[in-house]
Amino acid sequence: MLRLIVPLLVLVAACAAPAGDDAADGEGPITFVDGRDTTAGRQVRQLVTRWNAFASRREQVEFVEMPTTTDGHRAQLTARLQDLASAGRARRADQDCYDVMAVDVVWTAAFAAAGHLVPLKPDEFGVDRMLPEAVKTARSPDGKRLWAVPWRGDAGLLYYRKDVLDAEGLRPPTTWEELRRQATAVAGRHGLAGYVAQLSRYEGLTVNAAEAIWAHGGDLEHPDSVEAKNGVRALAEGVAQGWIARESLDYNELSSLDAFKAGRALFMRNWPFAGPRLNGEDSRVRGKWAQAALPGPSALGGWNLAVSRCSANQKTARKFIRFVTGEDNQRLMAREAGFAPSLRALYEEPDLVSPELRNSLLGARVRRPSAHYDELTSVMQESLYHVLDNPESVDESMDQLAEELAAAEQGR
Ligand code: GLC
Repeated sequence: MLRLIVPLLVLVAACAAPAGDDAADGEGPITFVDGRDTTAGRQVRQLVTRWNAFASRREQVEFVEMPTTTDGHRAQLTARLQDLASAGRARRADQDCYDVMAVDVVWTAAFAAAGHLVPLKPDEFGVDRMLPEAVKTARSPDGKRLWAVPWRGDAGLLYYRKDVLDAEGLRPPTTWEELRRQATAVAGRHGLAGYVAQLSRYEGLTVNAAEAIWAHGGDLEHPDSVEAKNGVRALAEGVAQGWIARESLDYNELSSLDAFKAGRALFMRNWPFAGPRLNGEDSRVRGKWAQAALPGPSALGGWNLAVSRCSANQKTARKFIRFVTGEDNQRLMAREAGFAPSLRALYEEPDLVSPELRNSLLGARVRRPSAHYDELTSVMQESLYHVLDNPESVDESMDQLAEELAAAEQGR
């Protein structure tokens, strides 16, 4: 019962402090929050600087960076929105509200259901020109409301040391078995770790496990299937055997990138932002790496832009979202930051989006569609993290996980 009441209270509280009636037409200064700007050359910050150079003095945007991980980002947004809601009108919303928020594709709908966002008009943002799978993540489950505008897509890629594979006369692996073989036999000969990935206990672990499971023919709906167990076993045994660097258990996107960029690993799974970073001045693998498809489908990642319910300047917020998701800026971010655009037309432009990224994104899968994704992923993270350190427990842990997920799905 309590589990029902608490979300209800949160919903009521969150709805208690919307901005005033004129907020929808409000123009004025706004705040834009995104995760830490990990792009090469701090491209997100530059985007905001460009807006500020051209916008009127009253419509300046302040850029606020959240923690790097999506879990930390969401927790901080939620805490701020709840604070604001409980302070009610006593606090001036325009002082503390995060007007425009970058929200992860996996929690956009739940975030909207919690009452934090205002619905948007699809025509105002040309969402019919965007990738349908991305737009789906920004809509309510019944498809009736649009809660956010797709901005950057994310799909996984396998980064590898081309210099090393070329010297060995090898092509990048296309299956987990080949990946294991090359990471075991070749990496050692060149003084490298085999494979680095994001296996720390956070959303990245769910992503990496989902991809290993799909590559073995399973899915997250049935973690107790033979195929799913084989996927998780491949990861856990890889760590135990050492061809998956044990440090990966502490790695997120950024720390795994640092390891590969420092020239310490033969293979890395990461998102597209990594490419331009690997070409940076501080990279020891400049000119030595290349990218390939993952050995299996990628998880569909990415970020949407939403307007906060507490925003007093929603007209400016919407203008800013149109600016960021407009064609020119999407093209620029694809070129400079490696972002996968949400606009379909940009995939037709020569040399803008690599064929590997295009294919990975178009074949990407939703992790586990659910109105309770948040609870499901935390249950998965706990169980998977345990298994990675205890490969002998795969069968038992995955059976138990299936039961726990079924319970979580029903809100128990
Ligand atoms: C990236 C993806 C996001 C995913 C996260 C996991 O930021 O865009 O969808 O949840 O990585 O770490």
